[in-house]
Amino acid sequence: MSRVESTRSLYLHQLLLLLFFILTGLAAVIGDEQEKFYIVYMGDRQGDEESAVQTHIDVLSCVKGSEVDARKSIVHSYTQSFNAFAAKLSEDEADKISSMDGVLSVFPNQYRKLHTTKSWDFIGLPQTARRNLKMESKIVVGLLDTGITPESESFKDDGLDPPPATWKGTCHHFANFSGCNKKLVGARFFKLDHKPDPADILSPIDVDGHGTHTSSTLAGSPVLNASLFGLAGGTARGAVPSARVAMYKVCWTSSGCSDMDILAGFDAAIADGVDVISISIGGATMDYVSDCIAVGSFHAMQKGIITVASAGNDGPNMASVANHAPWLLTVAASGMDREFRSKVVLGNGQTVSGVGVNTFEPKQKLYPLVSGADVARSAATKGNARFCIANSLDPVKVKGKLVHCKLGMWGVDSVVKGNGGVGTIVESQQFLDAAQIFMAPATMVNATIGETINDYIHSTGSPSAVIYKSQEVNIPAPFVASFSSRGPNPGTLLVLKPDISAPGIDILASYTPLKSLTGLKGDTLHSNFTLMSGTSMACPHVAGAAAYIKSFHPNWSPAAIKSAIMTTATPISPTMNPEAEFAYGAGQVNPSKAVSPGLVYDMDQMSYIQFLCHEGYNGSRIANLVGSKSINCSALLPGLGHDAFNYPSMQLSLKTDQEPTMSVFRRTVTNVGPSKSIYNATIKVPKGVEITVKPMILSFNRPMQKRSFKVVVKAKPMSSTQMVSGSLVWKSSLHTVRSPIVIYSP
Ligand SMILES: *[C@@H]1O[C@H](CO)[C@@H](O)[C@H](O)[C@H]1NC(C)=O
Ligand SMILES: *[C@@H]1O[C@H](CO)[C@@H](O)[C@H](O)[C@H]1NC(C)=O
Ligand SMILES: *[C@@H]1O[C@H](CO)[C@@H](O)[C@H](O)[C@H]1NC(C)=O
Ligand SMILES: *[C@@H]1O[C@H](CO)[C@@H](O)[C@H](O)[C@H]1NC(C)=O
Ligand SMILES: *[C@@H]1O[C@H](CO)[C@@H](O)[C@H](O)[C@H]1NC(C)=O
Ligand SMILES: *[C@@H]1O[C@H](CO)[C@@H](O)[C@H](O)[C@H]1NC(C)=O
Ligand SMILES: *[C@@H]1O[C@H](CO)[C@@H](O)[C@H](O)[C@H]1NC(C)=O
Repeated sequence: MSRVESTRSLYLHQLLLLLFFILTGLAAVIGDEQEKFYIVYMGDRQGDEESAVQTHIDVLSCVKGSEVDARKSIVHSYTQSFNAFAAKLSEDEADKISSMDGVLSVFPNQYRKLHTTKSWDFIGLPQTARRNLKMESKIVVGLLDTGITPESESFKDDGLDPPPATWKGTCHHFANFSGCNKKLVGARFFKLDHKPDPADILSPIDVDGHGTHTSSTLAGSPVLNASLFGLAGGTARGAVPSARVAMYKVCWTSSGCSDMDILAGFDAAIADGVDVISISIGGATMDYVSDCIAVGSFHAMQKGIITVASAGNDGPNMASVANHAPWLLTVAASGMDREFRSKVVLGNGQTVSGVGVNTFEPKQKLYPLVSGADVARSAATKGNARFCIANSLDPVKVKGKLVHCKLGMWGVDSVVKGNGGVGTIVESQQFLDAAQIFMAPATMVNATIGETINDYIHSTGSPSAVIYKSQEVNIPAPFVASFSSRGPNPGTLLVLKPDISAPGIDILASYTPLKSLTGLKGDTLHSNFTLMSGTSMACPHVAGAAAYIKSFHPNWSPAAIKSAIMTTATPISPTMNPEAEFAYGAGQVNPSKAVSPGLVYDMDQMSYIQFLCHEGYNGSRIANLVGSKSINCSALLPGLGHDAFNYPSMQLSLKTDQEPTMSVFRRTVTNVGPSKSIYNATIKVPKGVEITVKPMILSFNRPMQKRSFKVVVKAKPMSSTQMVSGSLVWKSSLHTVRSPIVIYSP
């Protein structure tokens, strides 16, 4: 491999890391080798706190040899909402513990990564939407994130009563954290590895901006005239502006978000009495009893709390979706009909356009234009100069000019500026669907336009150009972001993931004053509001929809709320999104419709127990998980395979590519609409598939009445990785209840 190529791939690798830094504001760093924290998960809460802690010490004493050593190695006992502990262990000790009685799983603590307001209007929740304010103000939304900015205007508590009496959470003054109010009713932080993080502050304060952004998207009070230097201007607000916010800071600038801290966040949030949990954090999802988000959200579900999670930013790779446990509501990121573009006019009069947030107005009509490769410091730096990488450019040749660079890493706009340049045209084949914020005049163009510019530069004696300040332009929408993680579900063949899409590109919401807009070295731009992109931003939109539904239906189960959100989603067109449901799930969330879905596909804990039995989890392990004496999977399973798992979408993975496959989905819907209702089935059948529904008409004559039906799918063989999709829609005179049906060959 040539030197240039290796430099390039090195920087592209850095670029990917930095992309996460930009998209998520945090880079994940794996913990230090010597420190081996493990989480020993023992399932549901048993007895009181004292006896639970003693059990943990007893288990540890068995491998450590003495109670003294056990007490030295234990880091935390989780006792409020479930039964687990974190401790420093050797691999051997971890192995021994995993085979002990009552231990469900032992997993090494991993560090995860984190995965704004026209968006509410875009998805049909206008500021004037019908509200149940009395209930809404009793809702507390909990976020596991990077902390929060209490001074932000989004968390002003004007007009709010004290928090509901059922709220048990706490909040104190901490370092650089002024405390809570009637809007921000809980704030805690967890850093169980106790490793110093000089770039962060040991308190719930948000030095990153991510947690402030997600919280204000979910439940921020309205802030008039919010914008990023005039861009994306409007009233910034959350889905449920009267609801309360509780922040559980589990993500840290240097280390990312550790499993131990995430579990502690769940343990506390559940015990505090939050109504909805929003978690924009991802990582490789392991089995459902060794994954901290799956485990934490399972216990939340047991207490009637829905957990909404981001699908991850690992798209467009297939099977990249994270947080895919069936009791989670998994959110993909879609784009709105708005994009931030800058006009670039070339000296020959040609006009092209780039994406990105460029807040700078040009001072001249045209500037001299050069290509980075042509203004290298020396022949040796020519390869890097193409990418305008630090120390590769000749300041004498750059001064006063616009520079055309290929994208190799973020922050080249600042490098060009540092060399005396007046602006940068960055050329890239990727990352063009979300606007990067530039700290110096710049825009990002695609490869075709990049070539046009390059041709122009080399076709004239004195090339020139100008980049204008970004403007909002309308584009066709919705479409799924290229970075949004795709299905099929790598965890189970039975369940379609992601579940739903919500806006996650260029979202305007509150930001922290403690970080510059790009977070990159040399950036001095600050703003109370900023644009961020990621499934992290999509997640609080759906959590907000869940809170909104809960304010009308406080007693609905997590599964009913999820069903309402999925079956009322606005279908997204597969023409703009070739991966179809694997990209967008049931479609784009529509909170106003989700409040009155007509029918819901409800599930209780037993449904998930059957699911786990079907997935081959041992009955005694499941019993531990749910806190029951014993579970006999053989007794539960007959006649109750996957076909009875009452999920609001249907997915059939074909077993062989030789013969047609026939599969039956049994489903039960509950009437939550008018007492007397009649629903007719409409089936959209994809090519090569037969779908029949029995019965075709469901009639109800009382509320909460249940009706069952069967969907029989016959599919011809398909080539590997092929997928087709159809849908089943139950329609009454008032309601449309839609479930996608996906058939694919793994
Ligand atoms: C930014 O927010 C702070 C409160 O956190 C407020 O005092 C300040 O006026 C705001 N700045 C602008 C430009 O609105
Ligand atoms: C946090 O507070 C300390 C003490 O008041 C202060 O010195 C420090 O600058 C503050 N840090 C930030 C990031 O504001
Ligand atoms: C909104 O902000 C802009 C500039 O940031 C300012 O010119 C305008 O007066 C503000 N409008 C209101 C109603 O505050
Ligand atoms: C670049 O953008 C132009 C204008 O929008 C479009 O015509 C062209 O197909 C794009 N090229 C690529 C490689 O996406
Ligand atoms: C679960 O596994 C244990 C051994 O690991 C075995 O003794 C037990 O019978 C299994 N239970 C069920 C219900 O399969
Ligand atoms: C589990 O259920 C099966 C089928 O009902 C039964 O044959 C078996 O004896 C049960 N096992 C236990 C341990 O109860
Ligand atoms: C449902 O089907 C029946 C019988 O075909 C028809 O009379 C009725 O109008 C249909 N209802 C709706 C809401 O489409």
